Amino acid sequence: MKALRLALLTLGGLALASGSALAFHDGGVAYCQGCHTMHNSQDGALVDPAHPNGNAYLLNFGNPSDTCLRCHAAYGQFANGTGYGPGGDFYWMTKTFTWDSHGNPRTSLGDTHGHNVISPAYGLTAEPTLTTAPGGDFLSQYLSCTSCHDPHGNQNFRLLYGGALDPVYDGGRYDFTASAPLALGNGRRTINEDGWETDEHHTIYKSGMSEWCANCHSGMHDPSTTNFVHPTSDDLGTAVANTYNGYISSDAVTGGDPATAYWGLVPFEAVNVDLALADPENYTQGPEPQDQVMCLSCHRSHASAFADAGRWDFGATFIADSHPLITDGGATADDVANKYYLYTFVDNQRSLCNKCHAKDAGDGPRAP
Ligand code: HEC
Ligand code: HEC
Ligand code: HEC
Ligand code: HEC
Ligand code: HEC
Ligand code: HEC
Repeated sequence: MKALRLALLTLGGLALASGSALAFHDGGVAYCQGCHTMHNSQDGALVDPAHPNGNAYLLNFGNPSDTCLRCHAAYGQFANGTGYGPGGDFYWMTKTFTWDSHGNPRTSLGDTHGHNVISPAYGLTAEPTLTTAPGGDFLSQYLSCTSCHDPHGNQNFRLLYGGALDPVYDGGRYDFTASAPLALGNGRRTINEDGWETDEHHTIYKSGMSEWCANCHSGMHDPSTTNFVHPTSDDLGTAVANTYNGYISSDAVTGGDPATAYWGLVPFEAVNVDLALADPENYTQGPEPQDQVMCLSCHRSHASAFADAGRWDFGATFIADSHPLITDGGATADDVANKYYLYTFVDNQRSLCNKCHAKDAGDGPRAP
């Protein structure tokens, strides 16, 4: 019965999506019943049978993140690792991988794979290690989809908070000082090519992403500590921009064409791009010196298969050795196949930090 009800709810969500070009909550608040129930009763039956006493905020399904995932799980935000979106698939939060490195047990814990949004219906629990956002005071126990996205819609990129209204937090609202970033995205269904991130087809980032992340991680972006943290919101400069544009792979660290140099896995903010004219379905132009490195040059905003929500495995010397590997505890063949979306690499490819720094110049092969 519960399963049937869930299936019906999900179908309702899918049906909402088709039919009009402007989907559900595009650009503003959708009809309230999509997420709320006034009495937890319709046709004499409970609207949310799992919660007979109803939910906080009169939500129609569990808590805020449950409510979002009721529709969005199937769109790719919680889809067994097959959501190849720029934000990433929260499924990875549920996957812990273990292996043995020269006799030492090693672990890539699920909760380190990104933001632990709390969603009991999907088995997502509060972060056990980090009680607050590193570099800030946002308590992990309140983290939800609606800590970042405005459930009542707005005209910002991806309905992100920033500007007029702040996210609901501990009976009040959490103060965001920076506005939403300027960027342009693709399709939001990240389980198919409409929303898959590739080298040609990806979010075009223009400005403000690092400042936006710093709404909760201010200390990781504090100008007074820039000597100790990797620069963000910092111009690439001529040297790094040239390295990026020339870099093809660890096998060919120079010789690339700036017109096709963009790597979806190592994005940057194209500060002079005209978002009214740019096409996120076909954007391959590499950086110019004034373009900027930002938080999402290295991280995903939701989750990834790797520790610290890395866009790649920061702990692997060679990309081909990134965990999960098929020999890892907890890993399925699908996990291994999905970890790098559809991206491919030369066997000798070293850390993707090299796209900007080319520290792999002149290095030896993976298997001598
Ligand atoms: C996409 C889902 C969604 C839709 C559609 C939606 N809400 Fe909400 N609403 C939420 C969530 C989730 C909360 C819980 C607070 C939070 O997490 O931000 C909430 C909280 C509220 C609150 C209390 C907190 C606040 O922000 O003031 C009110 C009032 C409210 N909603 C009214 C409405 C009305 C009226 C509509 C229709 C015009 C509506 N909502 C449509 C998801 C939604
Ligand atoms: C009733 C189904 C439904 C619910 C519930 C729902 N969404 Fe959506 N959402 C959609 C649809 C449909 C789209 C458009 C998808 C597409 O283009 O295929 C969408 C798109 C989005 C987008 C992309 C918007 C953009 O401008 O690109 C975000 C972000 C989003 N939803 C967040 C949320 C959050 C956060 C919640 C929970 C508060 C939520 N959604 C709840 C149906 C839903
Ligand atoms: C609404 C507040 C909020 C915003 C905005 C936010 N974060 Fe977080 N972040 C948190 C909290 C809370 C934690 C600790 C709990 C956790 O890891 O789930 C965290 C943890 C992290 C972690 C560590 C994950 C781990 O477990 O090792 C990374 C990396 C991170 N955030 C990056 C970012 C980036 C990049 C952005 C911008 C796209 C961002 N955050 C925006 C609240 C936020
Ligand atoms: C820490 C902040 C944060 C949290 C928490 C968060 N999002 Fe996002 N989300 C973002 C950002 C930033 C983007 C833009 C990613 C990009 O284009 O690089 C995004 C993108 C999206 C998109 C567009 C497609 C995609 O996958 O990139 C959807 C839909 C979405 N989020 C829904 C959700 C839902 C549903 C939840 C909760 C299960 C959620 N988000 C939790 C920050 C967040
Ligand atoms: C050049 C790549 C890069 C950039 C840019 C970057 N990070 Fe990180 N981040 C990392 C790496 C690698 C780690 C792993 C820990 C370490 O090396 O310090 C990490 C770790 C983290 C953590 C986890 C800290 C902990 O204690 O577990 C958070 C949170 C985080 N980054 C947030 C951010 C935010 C917010 C920004 C933008 C202001 C940002 N990062 C920019 C590469 C980067
Ligand atoms: C999108 C491009 C980009 C990526 C990706 C990137 N960096 Fe950087 N990095 C920069 C820029 C720009 C600077 C500052 C200017 C310079 O070095 O000329 C910098 C500076 C540095 C510095 C010197 C910091 C100082 O205070 O002098 C180190 C070390 C560094 N990066 C390491 C890394 C590592 C490790 C990674 C991968 C986890 C990484 N970078 C990924 C662009 C990038």
